[in-house]
Amino acid sequence: MSKSRGQWGSKVGFILAASGSAIGLGNIVFFSANAYKFGGGAFYLPYLIALFVIGIPVMILEFGLGHQTRRAFPESMHKAAGKPGEFVGWWALMNACFIVFYYITILGWVLGMLIGAFGQLWQETTPLKGFAMDELANPHGYFFSMLSSWKPMIFVAIVWILNAILVRRGVATIEAAVKVFVPLMWIFMIVLIVRGITLENGFQGVWLLFTPNFEVMKDAAVWQGAFSQIFFTLSLGFGVMTAYASYLPKDSDQTSNALLTSLMNCGFEYIAGLAIFSILFAFAMVPAASTLSMMFFIVPTGISQMPGGDPMVMAFGLLFFLLLLLAGLSSSVSLVEGLASSLIDKFRISRAKAVGLFCIFGFVGSAMFTLPQVVNPGLENDGTLGLTLLDLVDHWAFSYGLLIVGLLECLLIGWAFGAKRLRAGVNSSSRFNLGSWYDWLIKLIIPALILYVLIVGIKGEFAGLYGSDYGPNYKDGFSWMVNSPQFILVGWFVLTVGASLIFTLRGKYSEGSQ
Ligand code: PHE
Repeated sequence: MSKSRGQWGSKVGFILAASGSAIGLGNIVFFSANAYKFGGGAFYLPYLIALFVIGIPVMILEFGLGHQTRRAFPESMHKAAGKPGEFVGWWALMNACFIVFYYITILGWVLGMLIGAFGQLWQETTPLKGFAMDELANPHGYFFSMLSSWKPMIFVAIVWILNAILVRRGVATIEAAVKVFVPLMWIFMIVLIVRGITLENGFQGVWLLFTPNFEVMKDAAVWQGAFSQIFFTLSLGFGVMTAYASYLPKDSDQTSNALLTSLMNCGFEYIAGLAIFSILFAFAMVPAASTLSMMFFIVPTGISQMPGGDPMVMAFGLLFFLLLLLAGLSSSVSLVEGLASSLIDKFRISRAKAVGLFCIFGFVGSAMFTLPQVVNPGLENDGTLGLTLLDLVDHWAFSYGLLIVGLLECLLIGWAFGAKRLRAGVNSSSRFNLGSWYDWLIKLIIPALILYVLIVGIKGEFAGLYGSDYGPNYKDGFSWMVNSPQFILVGWFVLTVGASLIFTLRGKYSEGSQ
């Protein structure tokens, strides 16, 4: 079996792929938007603590698991902790499934913006048909007029086709792609930073990221934000890192792989923050509540004011959206690979069939988030850009799903499989030996921390369910959905748990398929 599963061609190939998965939209925009929301420097201490106390240890766990079992996430969790483990594995993938639906929708819009960056995006205004406001200043107008048309369906289809091409032969095609994408991403980012901090007043934005605020750290919301951000940005709690590590040769060093991947990811995230904050400061812009507004019109508006005339504006606009597209693609392929390899492992179907079926299904999923009916630009300032479906699903899958998976995987590996056993396996091929402190991190400390933020978060939901305040102004489109945000919560829960149960109970892993 293991012959047909394939293997990374080199350690560099693996590190590029794992860091390509980790570095994505989360690094370039969600980090900056979160940091801004929580007051800049107030965010990065909880973030750094989350990185070292939770992120790196959980990445060692996910890499170690894949490397030791040589299977995708559900089967490796099955081998480690039986059926309950497998259920958690599928549940992680079901959340990943929802996330990849809208992640690719967002990439479809990025592709649309990239095309716009050749010219249209920089016009003065764009008329908006069929909405309360007749026209909006660009790039606002361009973005919303694109959203209210059917064009993004085509862009989304293109992004799904690109994903299918990139994972069609598994690690072989992924490795070839990331060898080009990841170095390019770094180069583009460095060009953007140099431009950002050399703009007049640009450097001042950087201070915002370095001024800590200890007051805000008392707020549990900052910690929930930091923990979810760490899981998302490091691609943890999705089963992706386990799938990637299952293609590693026997003797590879998981501790150093995890350290390298995490530090590269967070280094990129940090410098992306410098680029974004310097552009925001140079042009005195305040990002609204939404992370997406940052990428779709705040930064582009900044770019449109860059000195050097039209050619410069166009060049930096293209660079920014191409950067987003490459970073997003090297992330989305890991999600598709994580899902496809799990289906291949369990149902013994061919790779071509698994990838083909999943990409068609995925397109339908992304189409739900792309429908012009689910968008209402009138709600731009409610923190969702009027993308209510995306926002509500994201809230549950992102802020809760990932953390719950993290909690359960630590408990199951820590207690059922045995943290000591996992550590022994990791240490056997690592240069740096993990001590017994690692066991207690996995068994107790990380679960306790995650549980704490989950409980505080859930208590907050009882005081007012997320999304319940969107209702009053929301008249068009899917108003039923917004008027009953419980519907999305129940829908997400029933669908993900139901599908995970079906996948766990159906079919059987072949014995000894090591
Ligand atoms: N880590 C990616 C980002 O920061 C998102 C992602 C999560 C990608 C999980 C793959 C798997 O954008």
